[in-house]
Amino acid sequence: MKNIAIFASGKGTNAQAIIEYFKNHSSVKVVLVVTNNPDAGVIKIAHQHKIISAIVSKNFFGNEESMHKLLNSLNIDLIVLAGFLQLIPAFLIQKFSKRIINIHPALLPKHGGKGMYGKKVHEAVLAAGETETGITIHYVNEKYDAGEVILQKKISVEPNDNVESVSGKIQQLEHEWLPKTIEVLLK
Ligand code: GAR
Repeated sequence: MKNIAIFASGKGTNAQAIIEYFKNHSSVKVVLVVTNNPDAGVIKIAHQHKIISAIVSKNFFGNEESMHKLLNSLNIDLIVLAGFLQLIPAFLIQKFSKRIINIHPALLPKHGGKGMYGKKVHEAVLAAGETETGITIHYVNEKYDAGEVILQKKISVEPNDNVESVSGKIQQLEHEWLPKTIEVLLK
């Protein structure tokens, strides 16, 4: 079995898509959900699926020994950032080299970087008058949204699109491609 940890700070729709995709999978299992936000929707989702969830403080998250203990105790093979808002500490990036991936709701390197999260990204896409946008799944390095790209998928932005409509189209792409990409990476 390959074990996944999902790190998420928000609503958790991507976490849910991943958990459901791998529910009865023969070789991949979601075993841990980590969040920095006690109000994150992802906690309830983890609970419903009987997956361990950890609400971690900034201090815990930044502490090498604490994080290694948590991740080692569950034999984590891959960390998936699904809307996770904290910068990943260098010790985790070194220990999990090429084993931490992130999903971003735009075509990086466009509309990425610190503070570019969720709806803010779609607002920037529309303000820039883009005719297409999409999703990027990439390896995580020590800078926000700057690691090697694994997969990008595009959608077109129509003149009558708004933040909600773009967000809906992007979410569909994310829920389809994030689980599939994880499966390919863990083969
Ligand atoms: C997703 O759209 C993800 O791409 C984005 O946060 C959202 C989380 O939604 N991530 C970023 O913007 C990273 N910079 P969810 O909580 O419903 O899965």
